Amino acid sequence: MNSDDDKFREDAPVVQNIAVKDLSFAYVKDKLILKDIDLSVAAGEFVCLLGQSGCGKSTFLRLLAGLERPTRGEISIDSRPIEGAGLDRGVVFQDYGLFPWMTAGENVMLALKQRFPGRSVDELKSVALEKLRGVGFDGAVFRKLPRELSGGMQQRVAIAQAFAVDPPVLLMDEPFGALDAVTRAMLQDLVSELWAKHEPKKTVFFVTHDVDEALLLGSRVVVLGQSPGGVIFDCRVPAAGGASRSARFESTEFVRLRETLIRHINRDVAERLSRDGLFARGAK
Ligand SMILES: Nc1ncnc2c1ncn2[C@@H]1O[C@H](COP(=O)(O)OP(=O)(O)OP(=O)(O)O)[C@@H](O)[C@H]1O
Ligand SMILES: [Mg+2]
Repeated sequence: MNSDDDKFREDAPVVQNIAVKDLSFAYVKDKLILKDIDLSVAAGEFVCLLGQSGCGKSTFLRLLAGLERPTRGEISIDSRPIEGAGLDRGVVFQDYGLFPWMTAGENVMLALKQRFPGRSVDELKSVALEKLRGVGFDGAVFRKLPRELSGGMQQRVAIAQAFAVDPPVLLMDEPFGALDAVTRAMLQDLVSELWAKHEPKKTVFFVTHDVDEALLLGSRVVVLGQSPGGVIFDCRVPAAGGASRSARFESTEFVRLRETLIRHINRDVAERLSRDGLFARGAK
């Protein structure tokens, strides 16, 4: 670690545990989106959240971010209920979240400044540059506006920004959903590598629709059922962050877990279609 990093990590908040207890949530009275969720997540877990569209994955992330309040139950961090956004949690969304009028470097600098208000512009600049280099950019990207960068590059800047600010908890909502397969694979490897090498390990909640992405990145996969969504499956993934992409996909344990996950998701989809009468219509 270099001296800039030391200066920018001295007062990092610590999070040991996130406890979701009996959580239910409705945007509109009497229409529950999430129901009876219980989950305990320890520091350093990489939790991938899977589930059908509309089951409440983004809503769950918004609750973790403190942007919504539970209708019933509670989410607490180290026994303190979440009461709003906080420096202990960072978010990365699908739409990159960069300010379009600021360069990539300025975006990272602004995030650093909010987190470390006492630092000089030169210090912020040098750490921002370092963090952009850390995700594989050269110095030129620092001066580029988001619109001058591809979607994948913008998301890479957003990831550099999230890790630069260094929150112990990262909330990522389908961050690679809009990217092509190759860029997506590259960024999956980047996030996996950053998570694996960063000590203490960040606690990550990562929403995805993709079973392979969940198994590739996660140390744990949690599946939410149809809305009102509760947890219908929760499993640990062996060798998270360790083995290479191909070794992970080929291991027997991985293949079995993949089949089990797909079975649970398919059963949930079938129940939903049957409940909505879609099987009956399709059969005519
Ligand atoms: N601000 C809001 N006000 C009212 N209802 C909302 C709001 N945001 C989301 N919803 C509803 O809550 C439900 C869950 O939405 P959410 O965005 O959490 O689903 P999701 O699992 O993230 O879906 P997707 O995979 O398509 O992103 C949906 O029925 C949606 O219409
Ligand atoms: Mg969503």
